[in-house]
Amino acid sequence: ISKIGVFTSGGDAPGMNAAIRAVVRACTYYKKECYGIMRGYEGMIEGDIVKLGARSVGNILQRGGTVLKSARSAEFRTPEGRKKAYDNLTKLGIEALVAIGGDGTFTGLHKFYQEYQIPSICIPGTIDNDLSGTDYTIGYDTATNTAVEAIDKIRDTALSHNRLFFVEVMGRNSGYIAINSGIAGGAAAIIIPEENMSFDDLYKILGADKDTSKKSNLVVVAEGSKIGDAHSLAKQVAERSSYFDIKVTVLGHLQRGGSPTYFDRVLASRMGVAAVEGLQEGKYDVMVGIKDNKIVYNNFDVIMASHHEIDEESRRIAKILSI
Ligand code: F6P
Repeated sequence: ISKIGVFTSGGDAPGMNAAIRAVVRACTYYKKECYGIMRGYEGMIEGDIVKLGARSVGNILQRGGTVLKSARSAEFRTPEGRKKAYDNLTKLGIEALVAIGGDGTFTGLHKFYQEYQIPSICIPGTIDNDLSGTDYTIGYDTATNTAVEAIDKIRDTALSHNRLFFVEVMGRNSGYIAINSGIAGGAAAIIIPEENMSFDDLYKILGADKDTSKKSNLVVVAEGSKIGDAHSLAKQVAERSSYFDIKVTVLGHLQRGGSPTYFDRVLASRMGVAAVEGLQEGKYDVMVGIKDNKIVYNNFDVIMASHHEIDEESRRIAKILSI
C-alpha cells in the first residue's frame, strides 16, 4: 500500500483533528502518500479529495471539529453512489482507507470493503462511546467534561433558587455521557437508555412526598432515555406535584465542540498511528480500539454483534451516591 485516503464521517467529535494529524504523519513516517477526503463519503462520491502532507496538518491537534469536514451520506448507501466513490479513488490511485467515525461510518466502510475489497480500517470517533471493541471512543472524554462543566454551573443557580433541574445530555442510544457526567456532577438521578428505571422510580428518588426531600436537585437525562426526554420528564413531575420549581436545560451540540482534552488527543494520536500500522500489517475491515490501555483490532462483525455495555460498578456507584 502506497497511497492512503483518510476521512471523517458522521457526527463530528473533539479529537478528530488529532486523529487526522496522526494518520497523515504516520503515512509520512512510513513513506506513504496520504489524501484527505472531504465531507466523508460525500466527498468520495464527488471526488473532493486533497493531497495532505505532514505540514498541512500543523496546528490542528488542539482544535475541535474536523478540518476534513463531515457528513452523513445517503448516496453512499446506494450501489451507484459507492461505484462513483470507488472510481474516484481508483483515478487517484488510492489503495486503502482510514475512516474516522461511529457505527454508521464503519457500516458504510464494511459494505464498501465487501464490494471492492479496498483495504480499510476504522478509527472510533464519536462522543457517544457506544462502540464495543474499545473502552473509549475519540471525543467522549471531552464531551463528558463539557457536560460536567455545564452541570456545575447549573447546580449553582439551581441551589440559589431552590430549583429542580433536568439536564439533557447527548447519546442517541447510549448512556455513557449521562452516567459519568451524572456521577461527576453529583446528580440525584441519572436516566440512561440501558437501565429500566420507571417514571415512578424517578419520582420516588426525588422524594416530593417526603418531608425531607430537597427542593433543589439535578437529574441528568440521556438523550436516548426510554421514559421520555428531559422536557417530558419535567412535565410528568410537574403534573404529579407542585412541590418543585422545575427547569430544563438541553445541552445539545455544545457537547460536540471545543478543544479536545489531553486524553482525547493522546487516544486519537495512538489510534491514528495504529490505523496506518494496521493497514501495513494487513488488518482490513477492522476497527482500532483501546482495551485496558492497549491497542487492539476487532473485525466489523465482532464490533457490531454487541452493545458497549455500561459496567455494573458505575451504575451501582451512581445509585449509592444519589441518596
Ligand atoms: O452520534 C453523536 C451524536 O451527537 C448523538 O449523541 C446525537 O444523537 C447525534 O449525534 C446528533 O446528530 P446531529 O448532529 O446530526 O443532529
